[in-house]
Amino acid sequence: MRVAFVGKGGAGKSAISGTFARLLARRGHPVLAIDSDPLPGMAYSLGLPHDDAPLPDEAIEDRPDDEEGPRYRLRAGLSPVEAVERYAATAPDGVRFLQFGKVRTDPRALFRSQFAFRQIIRELPVDRWDLVGDLPGGTRQPFTGWGGYADTFLIVVEPMAKSLLSARRLARLASSGDRPVRVVAVANKVTEAVDAEHISRRTGLEVVAAVPLDPVFAAAERAGKAPLDAAPDSAGVQAVSSLVDRLEKEHPRMKVTP
Ligand SMILES: Nc1ncnc2c1ncn2[C@@H]1O[C@H](COP(=O)(O)OP(=O)(O)OP(=O)(O)O)[C@@H](O)[C@H]1O
Ligand SMILES: [Mg+2]
Repeated sequence: MRVAFVGKGGAGKSAISGTFARLLARRGHPVLAIDSDPLPGMAYSLGLPHDDAPLPDEAIEDRPDDEEGPRYRLRAGLSPVEAVERYAATAPDGVRFLQFGKVRTDPRALFRSQFAFRQIIRELPVDRWDLVGDLPGGTRQPFTGWGGYADTFLIVVEPMAKSLLSARRLARLASSGDRPVRVVAVANKVTEAVDAEHISRRTGLEVVAAVPLDPVFAAAERAGKAPLDAAPDSAGVQAVSSLVDRLEKEHPRMKVTP
């Protein structure tokens, strides 16, 4: 399974994607969680200590002048799988976590790392990890190649006018790419039984999950904890669990290659 969560800022991408990644791992999948947001996000919902670090410089090299290709690349001899094994953090439930790196002072510090980050994701063998991505809010990243690993885009939508409009635009962009992808909606912060139906009608998207507005979810995040650790029985976590079940049925379980 290779999924990417996209949507308007604040829709709930990080909260849902981190919870999703861990629940998928608990069902026996090898999971690589991918955070390409330069602002903090997925680490919290995975239950990882906060860590801003990009890929270290030792993993990256300059392209020689006499060769074609991007300016920087993964160091020769370091395969994408080895890079994940060496540099990705290990979150609870065995989820591996690869992040683009967070902006702290100078955004240029991330410049080299982003080449290697994108190369790793592009070149990972398809049968090694299930990929669960958390993309930054808005349209720019998802459709400029950063979401290129995903075969399914999950657009997180709140039942509110601006969120619905953003979802429609994201869906159109996702479907206009040069490769076939599945685009569906995850209704989030739902308060009424009709919300999911409303989202489906207004976006034209299949709604594959309806996650309720859950104060426990928000409280966990306020405390900097993963919803799955702080509130495992909450309605929000249960709804994400149902989403994992649903997508797992549609994607055959992968075998871990040694
Ligand atoms: N189902 C929910 N019920 C209650 N609060 C929620 C729910 N989902 C997310 N939230 C809260 O909404 C806020 C935004 O969530 P989150 O950070 O996951 O959004 P995001 O889409 O990743 O935002 P950004 O675009 O800034 O990355 C957080 O405070 C989170 O706790
Ligand atoms: Mg986020």
